[in-house]
Amino acid sequence: MDRHEPESYGDAFADVYDEWYADVSDVEGTVARVVELAGDHPVLELGIGTGRVALPLAAAGLSVSGIDASAAMLDRLRAKPGGGALAVARGDMADVDALAPPPGARFGVVLAAFNTLFNLVDADEQRRCLAGAAARLAPGGCVVVEGNVFDPAGLGPAGDSVAVRSLTPERVVLSVSRADPAGHRLSGQFVDLVDGAPVRLRPWALRTTTPAELDDLAGAGGLVLAERWGGWRGEPFTDESDVHVSVYRIAPV
Ligand SMILES: C[S@@+](CC[C@H](N)C(=O)[O-])C[C@H]1O[C@@H](n2cnc3c(N)ncnc32)[C@H](O)[C@@H]1O
Repeated sequence: MDRHEPESYGDAFADVYDEWYADVSDVEGTVARVVELAGDHPVLELGIGTGRVALPLAAAGLSVSGIDASAAMLDRLRAKPGGGALAVARGDMADVDALAPPPGARFGVVLAAFNTLFNLVDADEQRRCLAGAAARLAPGGCVVVEGNVFDPAGLGPAGDSVAVRSLTPERVVLSVSRADPAGHRLSGQFVDLVDGAPVRLRPWALRTTTPAELDDLAGAGGLVLAERWGGWRGEPFTDESDVHVSVYRIAPV
């Protein structure tokens, strides 16, 4: 389960991503908030993927660029109307400072949408990514991270689970996952079974960074938490929140 490379997730999911995850988060709310936060500056999306969020941001008038490690995801982005016009770099988002296109650009918002930052599966990579994003902010800019609230207590005991994602006469998709709270890791495979076709495995892995840990990692990169909501529409963040939208700004010296 640990053969995880930066391109692993995207290459495994590109062909089903838009079908499976079109509604995984509040895109309309994301666009409204990012427009407000970016002001007149461009936006960089980390792990831009197929453009699920980036294309609506661009349609709202923002100048959007992105980084993604997966050629397969970027091919899907480029095939969409407007996708070819975005400046995109292929590579590891942990190297954001060096890679973010266009070279030398400074961003009003560097966005890591739904759980994308947690695709970096160790804390050092997340820290490096946040520090690199901070280095590319325009004056007054911010780094925005959206994700599930990973609470080690809420992850439950270490262990494995199997669930049915979808079931039709032609196709069964099983979700097989493993929780390792001590190792801050959730990982799994979707097992895609089509009668008469080879089995398709779709591996994924997340480092389950809690909001408090994320604040520490961001702090090491010179960022400080400015806002944390329970959603893009300013919902209060409470003990009951499943999701957080965390806004970091350069810490005052
Ligand atoms: C969950 S998808 C999210 C895509 C898009 N941001 C969205 O919200 O629809 C995660 C994306 O991050 C990319 N990714 C994962 N690890 C990466 C890494 N280390 N560097 C760059 N991109 C990465 C994947 O290829 C994929 O496109």
